[in-house]
Amino acid sequence: MSTLPSPSGRLRGQTILVTGTTKGGIGYETARLLGDEGATVLTHARTPDAARSNVESLVVDGNGAGRFVPVAADLSSIAGARALAEAARAAAPGGIHGLVNNAGAGFKDRRLSPDGIEMTMAINHVAVAALTDALLDSLHAGADSLGRPSRIVSMTALIEGRGKVETDWSFPGKYSQTQAYFNAKLANLLWVYAMARRLDGHGITVNAVSPGSVNSGFGAKAGGTFGLVMKLGSPLYGHASKGSAGVIRIMTDPGLATVTGGYHTPSKQKNSSKKSRTEHLQEQVYLQTERTLRAHRDNRQERR
Ligand SMILES: NC(=O)c1ccc[n+]([C@@H]2O[C@H](COP(=O)([O-])OP(=O)(O)OC[C@H]3O[C@@H](n4cnc5c(N)ncnc54)[C@H](OP(=O)(O)O)[C@@H]3O)[C@@H](O)[C@H]2O)c1
Repeated sequence: MSTLPSPSGRLRGQTILVTGTTKGGIGYETARLLGDEGATVLTHARTPDAARSNVESLVVDGNGAGRFVPVAADLSSIAGARALAEAARAAAPGGIHGLVNNAGAGFKDRRLSPDGIEMTMAINHVAVAALTDALLDSLHAGADSLGRPSRIVSMTALIEGRGKVETDWSFPGKYSQTQAYFNAKLANLLWVYAMARRLDGHGITVNAVSPGSVNSGFGAKAGGTFGLVMKLGSPLYGHASKGSAGVIRIMTDPGLATVTGGYHTPSKQKNSSKKSRTEHLQEQVYLQTERTLRAHRDNRQERR
């Protein structure tokens, strides 16, 4: 179980959005632990029914200090990510103090998102960037209200260093479930570092958390190699609350209040792969992400 100190209401008065809070997963435990610290947790799931059901469970499993507000959206499209930002803004008009980009997925076969992006890349990276971009004003408002930086955290994975920086995010050619996941997690980590640089000194920190190997429903849903590896490895994997420890530290530890552009395990900050720390790759992915989000915005305006 978790090695975190007992909750002591350190997040009272703060509102934090956590994506992907399915029971049994890291997002659910993150939401629960943030609530135990007194936060209002905007509790995201793919559908309104799932979000309400997660909230009902969190109310039972939590210590009663926090509040859980259901929000829903399918994050396989940029439009879905933007709809979630709208829902978060409506639920927290005064701004938010934290955003935990936890939702993630793997796919046995190559599928394209409604935006023509391979689904692993669409959910693990493009949706994260679209949601973050659409919530920057809200995060700035939260920081102003609290007089301290708001925090963005993205879930990465130990294997990000095996990713390749691809220029075509539809991932044409021979598909590999694991390579698609490595690529998406590397792209997201490169983007985290580029975002952190841009937001440094502007009241928002951006960090990545690697949860370690955690027992969750991820492998069973992904199937293929992930399904097999996670099934075989599960006796050795940690409880989902162990995977949330890095996020909880960033959200609660005063010593990490202004730390940005970091890669954190559940217990400490360390270096990610050399590739992920390469500045020109960070800028390349950042600019490609911006172009992707802008193209979606332009298409939407043309359709109006
Ligand atoms: N478990 C590990 O060992 C491990 C290791 C490294 C990194 N991670 C990362 O940690 C994060 C949490 O993973 P987990 O292990 O806790 O797995 P999980 O329980 O399956 O959590 C993933 C969450 O993302 C949601 N999600 C996936 N696709 C979505 C979509 N299109 N729209 C909305 N929500 C969607 C899932 O909702 P549904 O339940 O509806 O699909 C679920 O709530 C992921 O980013 C994962 O890549 C996990």
